[in-house]
Amino acid sequence: HVDAHSLLSPLRFVNIAHRGGSGYAPEHTIFAYEIGEQLNSDYIEIDLQMTKDGHLVAMHDSDVSRTTNGVGKVKDYTLEELKQLDAGSWFYDKHPHYFQAEFIGATVPTLEEIFNTFGQHANYYIETKTPEMYPDMVHTLIETLESYGFTDPVLPDGKIIIQSFSKDSLLEIHKLAPDIPLIQLLKLDKKAKLSKNELDKIKTYATGIGINYKALTKNMVHDILQAGLLIHPYTVNDKKDMERLLNWGVDGMFTDYPDRLNEVINNK
Ligand code: G3P
Ligand code: CA
Repeated sequence: HVDAHSLLSPLRFVNIAHRGGSGYAPEHTIFAYEIGEQLNSDYIEIDLQMTKDGHLVAMHDSDVSRTTNGVGKVKDYTLEELKQLDAGSWFYDKHPHYFQAEFIGATVPTLEEIFNTFGQHANYYIETKTPEMYPDMVHTLIETLESYGFTDPVLPDGKIIIQSFSKDSLLEIHKLAPDIPLIQLLKLDKKAKLSKNELDKIKTYATGIGINYKALTKNMVHDILQAGLLIHPYTVNDKKDMERLLNWGVDGMFTDYPDRLNEVINNK
């Protein structure tokens, strides 16, 4: 029932800006998301954590120390406290070449701020991170999506995707909001296998699979597509890897460099 132009169509390839255009700006800041959009990605990818006072914020780690000048767990900060932290300066050590003075003092955005900034036109690929730490995360996420009209059935298919490594979290979402497309994230060891039975089970609640690309083989891609699931490998930053995966028929990729992925797609 999915039409060919839909973001979820197996005929459509999607470019997912991993943590924003996080190769060029500090991950999960408005700067990174803006760059992702400027580089013509299809999705802003957002990892969610939750503050002590129940606000959903974008951060990959449950601890603030890697990507801010603070220490400790997100869940021990109120939003007001978290907002005092500098989430931009650390990027200088990672990528001095791409560092810009305006990154200094960048703040950790809330999910609402992201929606307010990028509005209804952007597409969002949202991950519930360590949901076992945050009993209210799913409920708050669904409420927030509803209040922005993002669960409205007239919206394009796939405008919002929710992804998680946690099957329980996805099942909880599926119960509350059965129309939201879900991606089961997997982190497989090299040489691990995915059985037909496992894929069929995933298919009962998810639209597709997000998987670490290094463990992926051509046969696995075939089996996943055969099971009627989408496949979005993460996190692919090298053009040779992008080309190989594209030839295997994957439906999209997570990348820190959406421009590289577009170059590979357009040279095909
Ligand atoms: O969500 C896909 C990919 O981002 C999973 O890995 O650790 O970057 O969230 P991670
Ligand atoms: Ca993620």
